[in-house]
Amino acid sequence: MIRTFIALPIPDDIKDILSETIVALRSRNSSVKWVKPDNIHLTLKFLGDIEQDLVKSISTELDRTAEHFTEFDLVISDLGVFPGMKRPRVVWAGLHGDTDLIITMASQVDAMCARFGIKSDKRPFSPHITLGRLKMPSMVDLDIRLKEKSFRAKEVIFYRSELLPQGARYTILHTSNLGHKGG
Ligand code: 2AM
Repeated sequence: MIRTFIALPIPDDIKDILSETIVALRSRNSSVKWVKPDNIHLTLKFLGDIEQDLVKSISTELDRTAEHFTEFDLVISDLGVFPGMKRPRVVWAGLHGDTDLIITMASQVDAMCARFGIKSDKRPFSPHITLGRLKMPSMVDLDIRLKEKSFRAKEVIFYRSELLPQGARYTILHTSNLGHKGG
């Protein structure tokens, strides 16, 4: 079995802004485990553990889903926490722009995965980029400004995630380009 998820990659210039944001937040929030800049992504669907031999068929179906979309624009805009400021577990950067498209895409990816027996998400998809996680909820101070910047979503990536002692390692299993036939 391999642990997998499907996500939009984040371009380097956006990762740079988010990394600067993490540096500023780190000094204010010592109890948060921050995401390594290289690992920053926008999760569309967490599949969890799947049989390795499903990778090929899911990749083909992901190509099919992606080909029905065109490239679209998102804007990193604000900072927030899940589930709420009272018991924060996840610190995120929020998104504006073509969020209706990403919500549609996440729902199609979820439905596609369900056809392979993968559990459907109960919670509605809420587009965000996770910047940090808290093991124990504690007060977080997000009182800094996130520089708004837009980026173009061009591809969707099927990742393997390995949880290693030194942190998560993500490797690309397959890339599907938006609006292209056959990936
Ligand atoms: P997140 O970006 O919303 O935090 C890779 O591990 C990604 O899959 C994470 O970034 C996380 O999404 C999501 N993920 C990890 N474990 C999960 C779980 N148990 N349930 C749902 N999503 C999970």
